[in-house]
Amino acid sequence: QSNEMWGGRFASGPDAIMEAINASIDFDKRLYREDIAGSTAHVAMLADRGVVSQEDAAEIRRGLEAILAEIEGGTFTFSRQREDIHMNVEARLAELIGPAAGRLHTARSRNDQVALDFRLHVRSAFDDLDRALRAFQDALLARAEEHADTVMPGFTHLQAAQPVTFGHHCLAYVEMAARDRSRAQDARRRMNESPLGAAALAGTGFPIDRHQVAEALGFAGPTRNSLDSVSDRDYAIEFLSVAAITATHLSRLAEEIVIWSTPQFDFVRLSDAFSTGSSIMPQKKNPDAAELVRAKTGRINGSLVALLTVMKGLPLSYSKDMQEDKEQVFDAIDNLALALSAMTGMVRDLQVNAAKMRAAAGAGFSTATDLADWLVRELGLPFREAHHVTGRAVAMAEERRTALEDLPLEALRELDARIGEAVYGVLSVDASVRSRTSFGGTAPDNVRGQVRFWRERLGAE
Ligand code: ARG
Repeated sequence: QSNEMWGGRFASGPDAIMEAINASIDFDKRLYREDIAGSTAHVAMLADRGVVSQEDAAEIRRGLEAILAEIEGGTFTFSRQREDIHMNVEARLAELIGPAAGRLHTARSRNDQVALDFRLHVRSAFDDLDRALRAFQDALLARAEEHADTVMPGFTHLQAAQPVTFGHHCLAYVEMAARDRSRAQDARRRMNESPLGAAALAGTGFPIDRHQVAEALGFAGPTRNSLDSVSDRDYAIEFLSVAAITATHLSRLAEEIVIWSTPQFDFVRLSDAFSTGSSIMPQKKNPDAAELVRAKTGRINGSLVALLTVMKGLPLSYSKDMQEDKEQVFDAIDNLALALSAMTGMVRDLQVNAAKMRAAAGAGFSTATDLADWLVRELGLPFREAHHVTGRAVAMAEERRTALEDLPLEALRELDARIGEAVYGVLSVDASVRSRTSFGGTAPDNVRGQVRFWRERLGAE
């Protein structure tokens, strides 16, 4: 038996393999709400424009409402024979209300229908992502405030470089999340146009009002080119790009948490709620959630590359290849949401070992730059020369197996006779961070100022 929707010219139905490769209902049923909202707006417009009667439109609307209730109540039977969400809904509509159902698809194609449904879905995904990033920022800000004075090593090349504060480190991620949110908001603004009414690819001869439908669905207006409307998946690619960059940020923090929570570092302890044990080694407490956040990033990056690759060779306008857009995006939506919630929870619960961080901050001659700066400031040495003198002080300390601040004054005076007691004032890690008052620097007062800045800015949203 041939297809109930498009089988007019077909003598027989599809091969089982054809159905298996073609059907998308298993995953695109996720678009049911958007599909029904789109059809509801479409039929209201058709009735207003006199393309269908107000009576038929009312019947169709009632039927669509009933279908929504069936789906949400779990009584709707999804059928692979009916291929996708669009035809599942329409075929059920015909069962419920009879021939009037056949008028719904006037001046519309599945090409603009799916473009609409998917856009609506991606649009709310951008909004959800923005909200989740905001919660992540709030968690980071709380920790930044609490740890404005907590000294830790700042690293380059994963080697202790200069002391910073843990609060400052948390604020770095607040900045990244802010850029991620701004990317999401920017992409959302760009994609907020309605493709419905492009029909198959060329537009339609029916006197439709695309502006009305666009407005009913919360779009800024209709898209301007019918070919582009059904060909465009930029919004999905942009979502995946934003997702991949966001996930990359989460992955870097995850990696830091993995490193910091090793017994070797012991900077932080994860809560029991966000770690796991080993089935053989009773002493273990593993950072599985952080590791999985790191791994989800690989998966999301994969989705971005997958969709770019699907799209790159497609001539205008619609090709069935484009049906492969959804699983990648759905998977990225779900896994990014999970990664963000897990990371927000980890940050909220993290126990900070301030003593361990402070001790590590002082190791590795991390205040050498402070010594060089002091030589410039107090003795008037050119920075390059101060750098060289300090390098010799480090070599000296290394040879004596001692810290910079534990070098005796006579030893320092061998390098420059003008060095006095006062130099010890800049060699501690606290003095070091306190001195970094340049805008954006790690000084505790700066950190508190930045926390206030972000609280105000987020409060004004
Ligand atoms: N299930 C299809 C998709 O997701 C809907 C559009 C089908 N259009 C078509 N011309 N076959 O892309």
